[in-house]
Amino acid sequence: MKNIYLNIIKFNSKNLNKIIKILKKNDIIGLPTETVYGLGGNAYSNSSIEKIFNVKKRFKKNPLIIHYYDLNHAKKDVVLDKNFYKIYKKFSPGPITFILKKKNNSRIKPLACANLKTVGIRFPKNKVVRKILKELNFPLAMPSANKSSSISPIKPLDVCEEFKNKIKVVDGGVSKIGLESTVLNLVGKTNILRPGKITPKQIENVLKTKIRISSKQKTIKSPGSFRKHYSPGIPMFLNKKKCPKKYAFITFGARYPVTRNSFNLSRKSNLNEAAKNLYKYFRNIKKKGYKKIYVTKIPNKGIGYAINDRLKRASSK
Ligand code: TXA
Ligand code: MG
Repeated sequence: MKNIYLNIIKFNSKNLNKIIKILKKNDIIGLPTETVYGLGGNAYSNSSIEKIFNVKKRFKKNPLIIHYYDLNHAKKDVVLDKNFYKIYKKFSPGPITFILKKKNNSRIKPLACANLKTVGIRFPKNKVVRKILKELNFPLAMPSANKSSSISPIKPLDVCEEFKNKIKVVDGGVSKIGLESTVLNLVGKTNILRPGKITPKQIENVLKTKIRISSKQKTIKSPGSFRKHYSPGIPMFLNKKKCPKKYAFITFGARYPVTRNSFNLSRKSNLNEAAKNLYKYFRNIKKKGYKKIYVTKIPNKGIGYAINDRLKRASSK
């Protein structure tokens, strides 16, 4: 069997050059971010974007997020308005994606944005990906590095597993947050298309207006809000107090006993810790061969709202 570790690239100055070369050739590569690992390619190149969609088996109508080092490049591609600057100053670089109007002379390939007039842009905080972005004269189109509708990866080995070692991945440690970025739409009525670590309350405090979460909208603006998503591929049942021994039991808080089938997201009831463990447990449970997952109630505050959002999607049929 091929040694899967051969596809994991350690991050050092020699390898930085190698990584830059790969990306400049319009090839694609797995990269760390603070939310989840991404599959990055040149956003100004049709061939790299094609590769991303093909490898992920992603529906072409689902636009990619474009990742930038800073505003210098971003301002050439999208219209940055007042509200954007307010939130950007407070939360970027960090786990938030902004949906903005695309400029007419933008160099982002229409294919990356599913031919929409808008673009999702993000400034990731992870130091490794920032060092790479800084060296490039183009932004990176970068969806989560998993097969469509599967579980987002949070470490290099997850990426190797997802793509059966066909993709190289840069080691940037375990993703600190473990859940995908908050997607904030700033075109038309401001709303959140995908909840994440940065909450509506935090955005309301900056913009001083009420922010709605509209993942249930009829016209799908953000296909990450399609119901079946982020799924370990086995039936999942939510808000359960007990669980048969033969099924996996995802729990939260100290009152649940430690048993062989229990996967406690956070014994100290810390929602950030729970977010970080969620996808890790999904993967472990799947590997261990469980046929069903039961999940206890998770508090719906802070990042707990995003945890519940992912659980609902993972449990939808
Ligand atoms: O944390 C993250 O955002 C990760 C890391 C790698 O940056 N990326 C990520 O990408 O989660 P992806 O492709 O798995 O999810 C992107 C989400 C999708 O729900 C997509 O529909 C939405 O962002 N999106 C992208 N561009 C959009 C646009 N122009 N309008 C509405 N939704 C958009
Ligand atoms: Mg994804």
